[in-house]
Amino acid sequence: MLTIDNLFGANKTSPCVRQVYGVSGSGKSFMLNKALKTARKMPAFGKLHRFVIFDIKHDGYEDVLINDKKTKEYPVSDLDGVIKSLEKNRVTLIYPEMETASILLEDTIKHIFSVAQRVEDFSATFVLEESSTFIGSHPFSIPPQIKRFATQGRSLGLSLLLVNQRSVNNKWVDTQSQGITVFRLAIPDAELLKKRWGLNHEEIDLKLSEKKFSFAHYDLEKLSLTYYSPINDDKTPIRKQK
Ligand SMILES: Nc1ncnc2c1ncn2[C@@H]1O[C@H](COP(=O)(O)OP(=O)(O)O)[C@@H](O)[C@H]1O
Ligand SMILES: [Mg+2]
Repeated sequence: MLTIDNLFGANKTSPCVRQVYGVSGSGKSFMLNKALKTARKMPAFGKLHRFVIFDIKHDGYEDVLINDKKTKEYPVSDLDGVIKSLEKNRVTLIYPEMETASILLEDTIKHIFSVAQRVEDFSATFVLEESSTFIGSHPFSIPPQIKRFATQGRSLGLSLLLVNQRSVNNKWVDTQSQGITVFRLAIPDAELLKKRWGLNHEEIDLKLSEKKFSFAHYDLEKLSLTYYSPINDDKTPIRKQK
């Protein structure tokens, strides 16, 4: 069963990566935004837990930031901003420049690892939007820091969410994944779902089409598929669909 805890939280005994996909406008960012709003308030994540969102589209997450007069959080776009924000804020929203996004991604992950190694109670959830911008289908087309994150992250309390419009067609990433959350899918992904996990795309999509913004979760360890109602707001987050 998908919960805010296991969507964002690290688990020392299961893989560090979670994949989220669905076509543009299917509700991915909206759901993650509301769920992050809830998560940031949950003591279960620990005082030194950090939520980091790396969003090349600069769209859909500002609502997660605190917008009080006294404590205002701002999106950041360089390493200096990332480091400062991580130090004091629960949530760090990164709006990278297109030209330097890959470098900033690598530097940010390096920094998160170095903090995680130095500070015992530190843990983090890293949300990478438009992940196919950075990850290709070939095993060698994964940036070294993402590889490191996926393989060494869980022992340090780190988890990685790869969010994309299409399924990330990379078998290595699959082997590092705990589960996939799917919204409405592009037709060419149907074959892939079937080939990789034996999932019936037509059936899933038919069910998802009945209720706009609903989604399904496939647990890659338990091999179970569950459907969820659309998220309304940050007060009523993840609910199983009847
Ligand atoms: N659960 C929902 N309830 C109400 N409106 C939603 C919901 N999910 C998405 N929307 C609407 O659809 C738009 C597109 O959703 P979004 O999450 O940005 O799509 P994606 O990230 O998959 O491209 C949002 O701006 C919002 O207006
Ligand atoms: Mg989006």
